[in-house]
Amino acid sequence: MTRVITYGVFDLFHQGHINLLKHAKELGDELIVGITTDQYAYERGKLTVVDSLETRMENVRKCPYTDEVIVEDHIGQKVEDILKYNIDIFAIGDDWFGKFDYLEDYCKVVYLPRTAGISSSILRLEKYPYLRMGIIGAGRIAQRFVKEAGYVREIQITSVYHPNPDTSASLARFLGQNTAIAKVRTLPKLFDNCDAVYIASPHDTHYAYAKAALEAGRHVLCEKPLALRKKDAVELFRLASEKGLVLMEGIKTAYCPGFCRMISLARSGVIGEIHDVEASFTRLTPPGVREWTDLKTGGSFTELGSYVLLPVMKLLGTDNLTWRFESVLNANGLDTYTRVYLRRQDMLAEGKCGLGVKSEGELIISGTKGYILAEAPWWKTQYYEVRGENPAYRQRYSAEYAEDGLRYEIADFMYRVQGHAGREDKLTPVESAKMAEIMEDFLAGRNKG
Ligand code: CTP
Repeated sequence: MTRVITYGVFDLFHQGHINLLKHAKELGDELIVGITTDQYAYERGKLTVVDSLETRMENVRKCPYTDEVIVEDHIGQKVEDILKYNIDIFAIGDDWFGKFDYLEDYCKVVYLPRTAGISSSILRLEKYPYLRMGIIGAGRIAQRFVKEAGYVREIQITSVYHPNPDTSASLARFLGQNTAIAKVRTLPKLFDNCDAVYIASPHDTHYAYAKAALEAGRHVLCEKPLALRKKDAVELFRLASEKGLVLMEGIKTAYCPGFCRMISLARSGVIGEIHDVEASFTRLTPPGVREWTDLKTGGSFTELGSYVLLPVMKLLGTDNLTWRFESVLNANGLDTYTRVYLRRQDMLAEGKCGLGVKSEGELIISGTKGYILAEAPWWKTQYYEVRGENPAYRQRYSAEYAEDGLRYEIADFMYRVQGHAGREDKLTPVESAKMAEIMEDFLAGRNKG
């Protein structure tokens, strides 16, 4: 009896998969197929899997060459499975050639010829055409966006708009680095060239650009803060909903896989009832950049406040929330450091933001049984611990986070534009509007001095 095992995502089950399973089965008597979970596929960079795990397992199970289907959900599982199921042969398509040679210590490794001209990626593109995106703004964040969007294969960035197309040094730099992206001189031209826009302009322009894009029927992914007044945020979400468009605020932490899991863990009761959230994010910022030159909407809280407010929104909620601020201002009246104190019933929170003050950047979620600690950079959550009264007790968790991490946000945006459900709760319109309300209140107080 020769037992063969193979693995894959098997999204949009196709002839290439069938051929692979057939050849794998021909190597022995029994074929076990490991199907990658959504989460594990996501962690490994497959950000836009369409079929659910159930559908993918069902499709493979129905295939006449399959004898057993198992789930693959973690790195290192292949060795465990080979030992557990007494496997003789590990088989995989030759697009993985050489990558699994290390398994030869445990069984025979066979790379099977891949079927030419078909793949899940090709089918995804046939089913859902490229999402053509335009960018508004051409600064540091826009550049990062282009790089990270490259990991979401179904997105194509077509054009960039800047209000000063002939004089902007950042636009010239951007175009030099991205020669395939066209410069457009007007917003209508930008909208003509795209299905969705990414807004990466100064804070106080977000609302107007988002409104124009939504009115033109374009989906919008807007850098944080989406709006600086509650009524603007509410209006934008209403407009998006009326027009059946996706409007998403780009707080990258909200879409970061590790952060989402940490919030779920906190909600699971493992630390008891939650009574406190402390979030700190500081980043010393040199003079001369937008954060210090924009006297209306620059400063620490408008720049970093979205990050520290996010876990508060997620864990305290938005109803009956109260808040107050303490800031240190510079000679121009911009906050070099701000603390925000929030309360909802018996839950307290504190956020610290500094562009001119350095502090420990950590997130601590405290409950009646213990606390969760995520050290800096918790806003790109990769590692966190549950701790309790007993100092020896430490439950450790880790999650993948690749490079700048914007790819998770971009993938979620595209996924939602394609009409898939299930990722909307990462940052809801109500949470975005509440953060706009808090920003509005902060700016009203600060700008009065
Ligand atoms: N496979 C194959 N021939 C194809 C496509 C896939 O033999 N044309 C094989 C892969 O090599 C792998 C298995 O099928 O052994 C499962 O691959 P999976 O990654 O699920 O499928 P792809 O179509 O390659 O997916 P994607 O395009 O998302 O990378």
